[in-house]
Amino acid sequence: MKFLKAFWKRLKSPSKVAAGIVLFLGFSGGLLFWGAFNTGMEMTNTEEFCSGCHAPIVAEIQETIHWSNRSGVRAICSDCHVPHNWTDKIIRKVQASKELFAHYVLDTIGTEEKFQARRGHLAEREWARLKANDSLECRNCHEFDFMDFSEQGQRSVQQHSTALASGEKTCVDCHKGIAHRLPDMEGVEGWQ
Ligand code: HEC
Ligand code: HEC
Ligand code: HEC
Ligand code: HEC
Repeated sequence: MKFLKAFWKRLKSPSKVAAGIVLFLGFSGGLLFWGAFNTGMEMTNTEEFCSGCHAPIVAEIQETIHWSNRSGVRAICSDCHVPHNWTDKIIRKVQASKELFAHYVLDTIGTEEKFQARRGHLAEREWARLKANDSLECRNCHEFDFMDFSEQGQRSVQQHSTALASGEKTCVDCHKGIAHRLPDMEGVEGWQ
């Protein structure tokens, strides 16, 4: 009881109360900010958000296996393009601010013609990113260790058990244009 009394007395002294209130507000403000921040992070990962600026791509992806397949599992834009790891995700979002500049100021892909002209360059950037992280976003869904070679076609097994298994090549070295129509691929090494 003595302890409680002492505690109460300390709490009642104005400076402590003020400090308590400040702490409490700071804490809840932090929570609110954190919540809003993460909601924003989630919202900017939705397909609706991306389609705002990438409408032609959304139309194309609907014809591919990553949109609809026998298993009913869908890969959306952010599954392949936005890192899942929190720090990398933040970095990608900050980099994405240059997309805002490219959209609102430079208008680099605003028309079909502009998009097609710039497409090869953008694809190269994305291949380079996926090459550098060993196709991490693909591997979030497709795990090499669980690939059942007895279920794969002969061509697949041939490549997966050699160049992929040894780490000599990564998914995007061989699988280009799996979700989108390719830019003009004439002369790109390894493409058939
Ligand atoms: C405000 C419009 C806008 C939104 C929203 C947007 N983008 Fe982009 N994005 C662009 C523009 C413009 C470019 C072309 C940049 C350039 O020309 O350098 C681009 C380029 C890209 C590229 C090409 C690679 C690169 O590094 O430039 C990818 C991949 C991409 N966007 C994915 C996405 C995804 C995924 C989303 C949703 C999470 C998204 N974008 C949302 C405008 C946008
Ligand atoms: C969100 C999960 C997810 C991500 C991310 C993902 N995939 Fe897939 N992928 C699937 C599913 C589901 C299928 C269809 C499986 C089925 O029903 O046979 C598929 C099918 C494929 C196929 C088979 C194509 C065919 O015609 O049979 C290839 C190749 C492939 N993915 C490559 C990739 C590559 C390369 C990446 C990275 C750029 C990637 N995937 C990212 C889920 C994903
Ligand atoms: C050295 C080239 C190469 C690499 C690297 C590679 N693949 Fe493949 N993959 C192929 C070929 C070739 C096929 C067969 C395509 C066909 O027959 O149309 C294939 C087929 C597939 C299929 C369909 C399997 C089937 O038989 O139904 C999936 C899924 C797939 N790859 C996913 C991946 C993923 C994910 C990675 C990275 C972890 C990867 N591949 C890396 C060459 C490669
Ligand atoms: C299954 C993985 C996957 C999904 C899902 C996916 N992309 Fe891509 N995307 C890629 C890969 C890989 C590239 C590199 C070029 C290529 O191989 O087609 C790419 C390239 C791009 C580019 C560069 C321009 C181009 O056409 O190559 C843009 C922009 C882009 N994606 C936006 C999107 C948007 C928006 C969505 C959702 C509607 C989306 N992507 C869904 C894997 C994916």
